[in-house]
Amino acid sequence: MTDLTNTTAWKALKSHFPEIRKQSIRSLFNNDPNRGSKYRVQDVGIYFDYSKHRITEETLGLLFNLARERGLPEKIEAMFTGVKINTTENRAVLHTALRAPQGSVVMVDGVNVVPEVHAVLNKMAGFAMQIRKGEWLGYTGKPVRNVVNIGIGGSDLGPVMAYEALKFYAHRSLTFRFVSNIDGNDFAEAVNGLDPEETLFIVSSKTFTTLETMTNGRTARKWLLDKLVHEEAVARHFVAVSTNAKEVGAFGIDTRNMFGFWDWVGGRYSMDSAIGLSTMIAIGPENFHEMLAGFHAMDEHFRSTPLARNIPVIMGLLGVWYINFFGAQTQAVLPYENYLKRFPAYLQQLAMESNGKHVTLDGKTTEYATGAVYWGEPGTNGQHSFYQLIHQGTLLIPCDFIGFKNPLNVLPLHQDYLMANMIAQGEALAFGKTPEEVRNEGVPDSLVPHKVFEGDRPSSTFFLEKLTPANLGKLVAMNEQAVYTQGVIWGVNPFDQMGVELGKVLAMKIIPELENKQAPLQHDSSTNALISFYRG
Ligand code: F6P
Repeated sequence: MTDLTNTTAWKALKSHFPEIRKQSIRSLFNNDPNRGSKYRVQDVGIYFDYSKHRITEETLGLLFNLARERGLPEKIEAMFTGVKINTTENRAVLHTALRAPQGSVVMVDGVNVVPEVHAVLNKMAGFAMQIRKGEWLGYTGKPVRNVVNIGIGGSDLGPVMAYEALKFYAHRSLTFRFVSNIDGNDFAEAVNGLDPEETLFIVSSKTFTTLETMTNGRTARKWLLDKLVHEEAVARHFVAVSTNAKEVGAFGIDTRNMFGFWDWVGGRYSMDSAIGLSTMIAIGPENFHEMLAGFHAMDEHFRSTPLARNIPVIMGLLGVWYINFFGAQTQAVLPYENYLKRFPAYLQQLAMESNGKHVTLDGKTTEYATGAVYWGEPGTNGQHSFYQLIHQGTLLIPCDFIGFKNPLNVLPLHQDYLMANMIAQGEALAFGKTPEEVRNEGVPDSLVPHKVFEGDRPSSTFFLEKLTPANLGKLVAMNEQAVYTQGVIWGVNPFDQMGVELGKVLAMKIIPELENKQAPLQHDSSTNALISFYRG
C-alpha cells in the first residue's frame, strides 16, 4: 500500500491546510450561516454536530478522499465479514458479531459464530436471573448479594464503566464492586464490609494468565476460605469469564461455571461479551439485550452509511485532521452526564491501546503521528478545573461533548443548567471573545489581554434523548468504529497491544529481586538504585 504521506489526498490536505489554519471559526460561520444545520448528522438516535470544527466542505471532501484512498469502505467490510485483519496475531476481529441479532450469519473459519454467541448470552441470562432473584445460594445457603468482578484492562474498564453508566437501571439490593489493581488496597477496599457467605467473585480474564487478576483471584479465594473453610465452597462463590478453559480449571474454578468468549474478541472490545456478566447481573438480561441492540444499530450505520453521513467515519477523520495537520496530541471527552464518569477512562484504553502504534501493518516506522491521548471528566466538574487550559492555554484540544435531552433523575433546575453549560462551552470555545467585546464591557486596557478568548477551539457535540442501555451501546460502538477508522488511515493494527509486554516481562524479573535481598542486580544504575532503596 502507498505510504500515507504519498497518497494524493494527503498531499492535497497538506496544501489545503494553510488556507484553513488562517480562517477563524467565526469567519467560517459568517461565510456560511447555515453551518449549524449543514455540518450535522442525525441518525441512529444521535444528533452529531460537527459544525464547530476548523473545516470547510473542501476539507471534508479531501478527508473522504483520503478514507477512500486508504480503502476504508473495503476495510470496514473486511472487519464485518471475519477477514483476519489482526494480521500480527492472525485473527479475525469480530466484536461486531457479539451483538449480531439471532439468525444472522457471521462466519469464522467456516463456522457461523452467531449461534455460539447467543448460547453464551443465554447461559449468562440464566445465571444472572438466578442471582437477581436470590436463587443462587452460597455454600452456607445464603443468597448471593454481593458481586465482585476481578479483572483488569478490558476485563475491568468496560464492566466498571457500564455499571456506573447504567446504575440507574441496576438491581439496587445487590452490591457490585470491582477489583483490578495488583495494589492490595484495591482488593481490601472492594471486600470491605462484605460477608463471604453472600459474595460471588467473577474472575474475568481473556487469557486467564494476567498477573494482577490471578493474584487478586487467589487472594479472593483465601478471603473466602478463611471464613468458609471447605474447598467445595469455591464452586458456589467463584465463576470465570475467559477464553482459556484449561487455565480456568487449573485455577480451581469448575469449568461448568465458566462463561466463554473467543480469540476474535479483543480485550478492549469485550464489554458486550461474557466479560459483561456483571453488567447483565446488574441491569438484567433484557436491558443487556437492549444495549446490544444499540451496539448493533451503530454497527449497521457504520457499515452501510455513505462516508459523508457516517458518524464514526467523520469523527475518526476529524481526529486525523487535528492530529496530523494541526499537531493536536490529545482528545478531550466531556460527558455532561454524571453516570458517564468512567467513560473517558474506558475510551482511554479503547483508543490508546488500539492506535498507540508507530509501526504500520507492513512493519515500517510511521513518518506521522498516530493515536491521541484521550482524557476527560464529566461536565460541569471539568469546567472548574482544566477547562481554563482548553479555553486560554497554548494547546489545541479538540473536545467531544456528550449530552442527553432527558435526565434520568428529574430534579428541578438541574437539567437545564447542565445542558446550558454544555452548549455554552462549545460556543465559547469556538467563538471566544474579541478584544473589542472585552473593552466594550468596560474592562481596563491592562486586563483586556487576560480576558480575551481567542476562540477557534474545535468541538463536536453528541446529543441523545436519554442515557438508556441502547444509547450506551451506540456511544461505545461509535467510538470503537471511529478508532478503527483512524487505524485504517494510519495503516496500523488497532487490534494488538504488544507495547504492554516489555514492562510485564521486566516486572517478572524484578519480583524475585525484591523477594531475595541478596540477589545480584544487573540493571542500569538507576534501576539498581531503586531496587536497593526498596530492599531497604
Ligand atoms: O495488558 C494489556 C491487556 O492485555 C489488555 O489488552 C487486556 O484488556 C488486559 O491486559 C487484560 O487481559 P486479560 O483479560 O487477558 O486478563
